Amino acid sequence: MNTDLLLTGISQLATALSPGPKHGTAMGEVLVIPKAALALRAGRIAWCGPQSEWRGVAESTVDLGDRAVVPGLIDPHTHAVWAGDRLSDFEARASGESYESILLAGGGIRSTVRATAAASVEELVALARPRIAALTASGATTIEVKSGYGFTPTAELTSLEAIAILAENTPARIVSTLLIHIPPEDASLRANYIAGVCDELIPKVATRRLATAVDVFVEKEAWRPAEAEQVFRAAKQHGLAIKLHSEQFHAIGGLELGVRMKALSIDHLEACGPQQVEAIASSGTIATILPGVSLHLGIPAAAGRELIDAGAAVAVGTDLNPGSSPLYSVANALALAVRLNGLTPKEALAAGTVNAACALGLGGYGCIHAEAPADFLVLHGNDWRELVYTLGANPVAETWIAGERIAP
Ligand code: NIG
Ligand code: FE
Repeated sequence: MNTDLLLTGISQLATALSPGPKHGTAMGEVLVIPKAALALRAGRIAWCGPQSEWRGVAESTVDLGDRAVVPGLIDPHTHAVWAGDRLSDFEARASGESYESILLAGGGIRSTVRATAAASVEELVALARPRIAALTASGATTIEVKSGYGFTPTAELTSLEAIAILAENTPARIVSTLLIHIPPEDASLRANYIAGVCDELIPKVATRRLATAVDVFVEKEAWRPAEAEQVFRAAKQHGLAIKLHSEQFHAIGGLELGVRMKALSIDHLEACGPQQVEAIASSGTIATILPGVSLHLGIPAAAGRELIDAGAAVAVGTDLNPGSSPLYSVANALALAVRLNGLTPKEALAAGTVNAACALGLGGYGCIHAEAPADFLVLHGNDWRELVYTLGANPVAETWIAGERIAP
């Protein structure tokens, strides 16, 4: 076999056994190859295995110096495009105010909407670029970015345009989602707003290919399941996938709706009861948990252990946003999922790679195997478990996307 580049000196190569969703106990099945090598050709993996078994010819060889390699991480849930800050909320919450009461009083998400709607597309791109760079340096090779702080159709389109510019100008693979986040404060305007989303915004987004999925925040202080259902019907009519923010504070039927409508993923899940755990575990929908939110808001952590034991395919994301999760590292999100949600290190690896890929409809990503895109990480350490063990410092030494080393 001829190859462009052979990477040797890999102390351990750790990866899910195959691409595609891993449910329940399959999440713990990780392949660890000691003393491995990895051959790259034209941006893809040409071969991987024990170094002693390599028989091909390489144009060049790089010795990684006895360091571990894992697949590139996939962050399936971020709100990386925003303006303004939420430092006053943070301080108020530290003095006892709740996230929901701040939102009800017109602050929280609504204050970020005011700042974001006032920003130009250039300003939004400039603000988001270092956030994407931080995620990439900490191991994310594919990153989902949502709109949702625009509120008006024009401002939502501006956020999606910013995401499109970021996708063109950053090495990370960017997946864009239209988020229908919060309703108008005047309840009499809700139906009209939903009609505008279904009849005008979604068709425009689909025609301009500005997003591949539509997400709705289903919650007491946000949208009701019946309203979300209308949005999802419109999304599907226009060929877009669907996702939900649901069961963050209350279980009001969002999860059941998402499962019934075959959502790609349902995200948050902190308020799931046994019935919701069972419903998502016996479905094809990915259960995306966001431990940064539990840490930052002090709300109960989603029942990751119970979800996996019931047979769910669990993914983990940063939920990077200014209000509920200012977390700029997917590796740290996985580390928190082990501590807060009860995942094992192997399950966390599956959650941050193959399952996170499926949460974005990218079933071929997140696994190191011959023919896969050459998206992988070189760690500082020689044991892959440092990826989910390390807190604070960055365990990722090098991020490679499509066969190119892009960070640091
Ligand atoms: O994923 N829960 C709703 N939306 C975001 C938070 C957005 C914000 O607080 O600005 C979330 O937690
Ligand atoms: Fe979110």
